[in-house]
Amino acid sequence: MKIIGTGRANPAKIVTNAMLEEFLDTSDEWIRERTGMTERHVISSEKLEDLATEAALKAIENAGVTPADIDYIICSNVVNEYITPGLSCIIQGAIGAKCACVDVNAACSGFIYALDMADDRIKSGKAKTILVVAAEEPTRMVDWKDRSICVLFGDGAGAAVVTEGDALIGSRLTTVSKTECLHYVRTLEPTPYITKEEEAKPMYMNGREVFKTAVLSSSRDIRTLLDEAGLQPADIKYYILHQANMRIIEAICGQLKLDMSHFPTNVAHYGNTSSASVAILLDELNRDGKLQKGDKLVLSAFGAGFTTGACIIEWTK
Ligand code: ACO
Repeated sequence: MKIIGTGRANPAKIVTNAMLEEFLDTSDEWIRERTGMTERHVISSEKLEDLATEAALKAIENAGVTPADIDYIICSNVVNEYITPGLSCIIQGAIGAKCACVDVNAACSGFIYALDMADDRIKSGKAKTILVVAAEEPTRMVDWKDRSICVLFGDGAGAAVVTEGDALIGSRLTTVSKTECLHYVRTLEPTPYITKEEEAKPMYMNGREVFKTAVLSSSRDIRTLLDEAGLQPADIKYYILHQANMRIIEAICGQLKLDMSHFPTNVAHYGNTSSASVAILLDELNRDGKLQKGDKLVLSAFGAGFTTGACIIEWTK
């Protein structure tokens, strides 16, 4: 496959660190030093499906195709107001496409899992042009009284249109079941037969454990992919990493012995938007004219599961 268009959409409400200081025992200094974040876009009146649709339509326009050309939609999503149908179905109706659709939940790694699935489907000849959307509202999963977690997240959607091509140089997906490290549990409807105890709980995250695992797994994925492709770290123009925390990005940069010019970031302005983060950053680079034909890019993400996804792509647009 090759990427031929990108798009993004974020909620209008911007929540600064100073705004968080108003109701949490926190400080702008603590948040900036520990995470690199200064503000984040947070859903207020918007619906996630509308942001996802806006990102999708922008990607389709950027690709120079029409919704009628899309013959499969994959949407990466962890939560939204609909349990069913999947967000991909809602996007399909909203953009006026007619193709089959599926949602995938691989937590923050979901956009890269979805790109990999799109490549497989194109290779199998079952689809030619695929819309991949990552839409997330992690601010709805956290306890807004808990300063250790709610300051970290933002909401948004990113999208890419992919079609036949050979720009995916390599990809690597891993999953290690480690649910105790990061999870979010909600209750379902009661029935007359339920005897087990159920309790809805906001997202739990062991921040230090996630930090260590993220740095080690992302560096390992990237090194493996570079070795397999016979590339050196400096051959990659940009490492487009999951924007979870500036210190994680800096640590991965250090592991690869590169300078930060290879690591574009937007975590300062968006916070952690889960699987949407890589898609949003890719769109920013594309629309800012930072990507040239022939550039090699690494995408790499990690998240609950514990899942990781990484790929090397050549920019062909
Ligand atoms: N403001 C002020 N103080 C705070 C805040 C806050 N918002 N949050 C925690 N603290 C305090 C703690 O209570 C603690 O105080 P104590 O020393 O008196 O006990 C102190 O700051 C240090 O807390 P730590 O948790 O040890 O801080 P740490 O340096 O580890 O940073 C952080 C925490 C930012 C969560 C870090 O561990 C991290 O980034 N982890 C990775 C998280 C991540 O990337 N998650 C996403 C990946 S998966 C996904 O995207 C869903």
